[in-house]
Amino acid sequence: MSVRRLAEPAVQPAAFAFNRAKSAEVKTWIKKYPKGREQSAVIPLLMLAQEQDGWVTKAAIEHVADMLGMPYIRALEVATFYTQFQLKPVGTRAHIQVCGTTPCMLRGSEALMDVCRAKIHHDQFHTNEDGTLSWEEVECLGACVNAPMVMVFKDTYEDLTPERLAEIIDAFAAGKPPQPGPQIGRVYAAPETGLTSLRDEKTVLKSTRDREAKAAARAAKAGAEAPVAPSNAAKPKTDAAETNPTLKSPSARKAAPGGEQAASVAPKIDKAAANAAEPSVEKSARQRTGPLKKPGPDAAYKAPEKLDGAPIGPSGQTDKPASAMRKPKKPV
Ligand code: FES
Repeated sequence: MSVRRLAEPAVQPAAFAFNRAKSAEVKTWIKKYPKGREQSAVIPLLMLAQEQDGWVTKAAIEHVADMLGMPYIRALEVATFYTQFQLKPVGTRAHIQVCGTTPCMLRGSEALMDVCRAKIHHDQFHTNEDGTLSWEEVECLGACVNAPMVMVFKDTYEDLTPERLAEIIDAFAAGKPPQPGPQIGRVYAAPETGLTSLRDEKTVLKSTRDREAKAAARAAKAGAEAPVAPSNAAKPKTDAAETNPTLKSPSARKAAPGGEQAASVAPKIDKAAANAAEPSVEKSARQRTGPLKKPGPDAAYKAPEKLDGAPIGPSGQTDKPASAMRKPKKPV
C-alpha cells in the first residue's frame, strides 16, 4: 500500500469546474440526500470529477468541498483515504489496480504484478510510453472469492492468470476494454465447477409455491375458525415496574429529575448517636465514626473474659495475685 498524497503542485491545474453534462449529474446526486445532509454526496461528486479529468486534482477537491459547504480537510480526507480516487495523473485508457491482499496474494497476485511491470512500467504510478496505461498495488477490493483479481476504474477482472491479464492489458492498450467479471466462465461467485445445489429451478420454485399455498390455506382456515391473538413469544419477562404494560407514562418522580435527585440524597448521620449505639451482638460500646479516641485510665481493668472465675485484663493483669491463681499440688 502506497502513501496517498496529492500530486506535486507542478502538475496541478489552477482551477476546476464541472462541464455541462457532469453538472446535471452533480445536481441529481445532491438531490438524493435530505436538506442539510448534502455533504453525503462528497464521494459521488469526487467520482464525477475523476471521470471528467481522469484523476482527482486539488482544485477539484476544493471545488467539491465549496459546493457542499464543507471544510477542505473533510473532502481531502475522503479523497486521500479511498484508493478508488486517483490523486495523480494515470494512464488515459486504463489504470490497473492489482489486489495484493492475502487471498489474492496466495492465489498469484505477485505474478500479476510481474505482468504489469513487464507490460506497463517497472514502477507503480508510472505510465507506459504512450501514457495510456499505469498500474498500482492496492488492498482488498472485495472480490476475494474470485482471487486473484484487478480493478480498472469501476470494473473488476477476476479469476485471473498472468496470461489472461496480459491479454486484458493488450485489449485496453488497443482501446477495446474486455468484458469484466470472472474470466473463467463462472457466473459471479458460483462454484468453478458449476452449481452443486439448487440446480433444478423448476422444482425449487414449485416446492416453494406449494409450501406457500399450503401455509396460506392453513392461515385462512385458522383465521375463519378463531381470531389469533398476537404472540408474546419474543417479549422478555420481567417484574420491573417500568415494563408494566398498563403504565402509559413514567412515574412522577422519574418525570421530575429535581425531585428524583432530592429523593436520592443520602440521609445525614448523627455521629454521636451512632457511637452511643450498642449492637446486640457486642457486649461493649465501640466507637464507629471519627478519629479513634484513646481509652481512659481504667479501660485496661474492664476485662470481659474470665479464667477460673477470675477476670483477665488486656495486658494480662488480674484482680488476684498470680500465686492465688495456681496452687502447686503436694507430692503424693
Ligand atoms: S484479497 Fe483480493 S479482493 Fe480481497
